[in-house]
Amino acid sequence: MTRAKRKLRPGLVIAFVLFAGATGFAVGPYFLLDPSLGRVDLDPAFPMHFPLLLVHIFASFLALAVGWLQFLPALRRSRPGLHRLVGRLYLICIAVGGGTAIVVGAYTDSFIRQMAFLVLVALWFYTTGRGYAAIRRKQHAAHGLWMLRSYAVTLVAATARIVTPFCIAIYAATHGGLPPGGVRSVVSLMLDFNIWLALLINLLAVEWVIAKRLLR
Ligand code: HEM
Repeated sequence: MTRAKRKLRPGLVIAFVLFAGATGFAVGPYFLLDPSLGRVDLDPAFPMHFPLLLVHIFASFLALAVGWLQFLPALRRSRPGLHRLVGRLYLICIAVGGGTAIVVGAYTDSFIRQMAFLVLVALWFYTTGRGYAAIRRKQHAAHGLWMLRSYAVTLVAATARIVTPFCIAIYAATHGGLPPGGVRSVVSLMLDFNIWLALLINLLAVEWVIAKRLLR
């Protein structure tokens, strides 16, 4: 019997390209390890600021880069050992990425942004912890659902970058153009709410996916 060919869904391909592009744009400059190329205002009184930011970025990026593999049913079935290994790596990346985010987040000048980071870390640890606890108890279905939620939180970093240009366009349309400071001043305005907006979008999207699965 010939194996039925799996169709690539256009929606998934577009989402993949968008998320990969946003992630590349976010982390790209940091691979050069040059503090002057980053977008974060570093505190000169805290020499560990840049090294910890780099640890945060690389650990979180790794979680994002490997996390989606865990949702491929064929890979899970054919390579359960690999699934466990990548799962452990994902857990470690979140512990390191989340832990360092708490420290670097404390140096962010906006309190609204600081709160967004704290909520994000709390949700990252909570959803991932529930997923891990479920698999320790061999509750496979609950494990899958909590890990979906965990990955939705991981993707917030990319969604925040995807929504920003749309927000700039909405701003320009509703304000009759950009303010005197141009795109830069709108972006700094967006930075206070793009993470909250991305979190809302991702949580609604993942609960919608879960509801659809449960109804099936
Ligand atoms: C989901 C939990 C996450 C939290 C709570 C978090 C938190 C933070 C914090 C506090 C900063 C410093 C921002 C500042 O001082 O202005 C930061 C920067 C950064 N994070 Fe994360 N992050 C998370 C996930 C990720 C992921 C998954 C990636 C991978 C793509 C990532 C990539 C970055 C980058 C590239 C920066 C530098 C800022 C920039 O250039 O735009 N983060 N993050």
